[in-house]
Amino acid sequence: MSFQSEIVKWYLSNKRDLPWRDTTDPYVIWLSEIILQQTRVEQGKPYFLKFLENFPNVSAFASASEEQVLKLWQGLGYYSRGRNMLYTARYVVANYGGQFPTSYEQLIKLKGVGSYTAAAISSFSSNEQQAVVDGNVYRVLSRYFGIEEPINSNLGQKMFSELAKELIIDQEPAIYNQAIMEFGALQCKPKSPVCSECPVQLGCYAFKHKKIDQLPVKLKK
Ligand code: ADE
Repeated sequence: MSFQSEIVKWYLSNKRDLPWRDTTDPYVIWLSEIILQQTRVEQGKPYFLKFLENFPNVSAFASASEEQVLKLWQGLGYYSRGRNMLYTARYVVANYGGQFPTSYEQLIKLKGVGSYTAAAISSFSSNEQQAVVDGNVYRVLSRYFGIEEPINSNLGQKMFSELAKELIIDQEPAIYNQAIMEFGALQCKPKSPVCSECPVQLGCYAFKHKKIDQLPVKLKK
């Protein structure tokens, strides 16, 4: 079985039940991804639910005052995320009639949405073939495929994103993207990864060469 099929199979029986996973609504996915940008899942969950309850759709969000948004945001830090969200919600209402965009090309133009977030929203909402590359993906790919190029060098970023693009071909983008991130979060963890119970242990470069704790490489800048 291919690396990708093993990861997807692992995901289907090990995934966490997270409240943003059972939707294809791009607004709801946007909300979750912005909250999770600099925030751990367990900390972000109650905020996600609170925002969704207060603002069930992008038009409701756009009608909020900045004061209201920042008050709900309290405790999450990085308040520019909250401000950018309000700006973007109003932009979507003004420019897309309140229909949150689903294509990577449109999403990447939104304030606060970078390449990871545009790939996440477009793949989760409409199965667009866009590979996510976040910290989890860097870790899993560097270890399994033995990529020793730093994740924060220009060449490294190019290598990881090219590899990620190849791997997603023939996969269901929404599921495969969630699967590889979840695999990184729960199994191929930064410290004490669960190699003894890993479904791709046999093909893993880092396991074979005892380099688990040396990968991924990150340059101190
Ligand atoms: N972190 C960022 N996005 C996530 C997602 N969709 N599921 C779990 N953790 C995440």
